[in-house]
Amino acid sequence: MLTIRRMTHDDIDAANELQSRVYSAIPPFGLEQFGGLLDRFPDGQIVAEIDGALVGIALSLVVLWDDYSLHHTWASVTNTGEFDTHDMSGRTLYGIEVCVDADTRGKGVGHALYEARRALCQAMNLKRVIAGGRLPGYVEHAAHMSPEEYAKRVIWGDFYDPVLRFQLNEGFDFCGILHGYLPTDEESIGNASLIVWLNPGYKADQPTKQAPANLYPVLYP
Ligand SMILES: CC(C)(COP(=O)(O)OP(=O)(O)OC[C@H]1O[C@@H](n2cnc3c(N)ncnc32)[C@H](O)[C@@H]1OP(=O)(O)O)[C@@H](O)C(=O)NCCC(=O)NCCS
Repeated sequence: MLTIRRMTHDDIDAANELQSRVYSAIPPFGLEQFGGLLDRFPDGQIVAEIDGALVGIALSLVVLWDDYSLHHTWASVTNTGEFDTHDMSGRTLYGIEVCVDADTRGKGVGHALYEARRALCQAMNLKRVIAGGRLPGYVEHAAHMSPEEYAKRVIWGDFYDPVLRFQLNEGFDFCGILHGYLPTDEESIGNASLIVWLNPGYKADQPTKQAPANLYPVLYP
């Protein structure tokens, strides 16, 4: 059984180990970083669990998007992992991390985590979800094309990228390439795709709401 639920402090070790397994070059969040994130924005930190084992995480902040916008990096939007850029007066849910254990991919866990993120965005009456998406397939092509050309070819179907294709299929729009977004991301050569999903139910004249207590857990048989 797949369960999507809020992350708790008891999940921090497992989430840190998951990131260590998933990324060869990108360092995992430290235990204090995870703790700070949970303290700042508990509703935004989501885990996927199968039969009691943590297999995926989706982590978010609320940000004042105009402060970052076109030329941001992972470091600027998170204040280098301090996460004190989280600001409930913003209207943008910003995805700072999503990953699923390699053994469990291709079975809908990522989709369930993205569903939860969209549900959170809608429940809080936020305008959109924005993220910098990795381009792990780019390293194979980097010697002979720009990341812009690579992304176009993924979008028009000549190449498959497991992250950008997944995000496009999840209803996100591709808004361009962010150069130097995450320098430790060797597969993407530091690049990322700027992606956005607009909340169709967003009401600009109404305030941001607290996520309801019953938003999670969501159980999938
Ligand atoms: C991106 C990522 C989170 C997706 O997670 P996932 O659990 O594999 O996602 P899903 O299983 O929902 O979808 C992946 C693919 O499997 C397909 N799929 C889902 N369930 C399926 C099923 N039952 N049978 C066949 N295919 C299925 C989906 O349609 C999707 O295909 P697509 O790539 O053509 O869109 C995962 O690849 C990952 O962790 N990557 C490494 C970390 C990373 O780079 N994260 C991104 C940070 S920006």
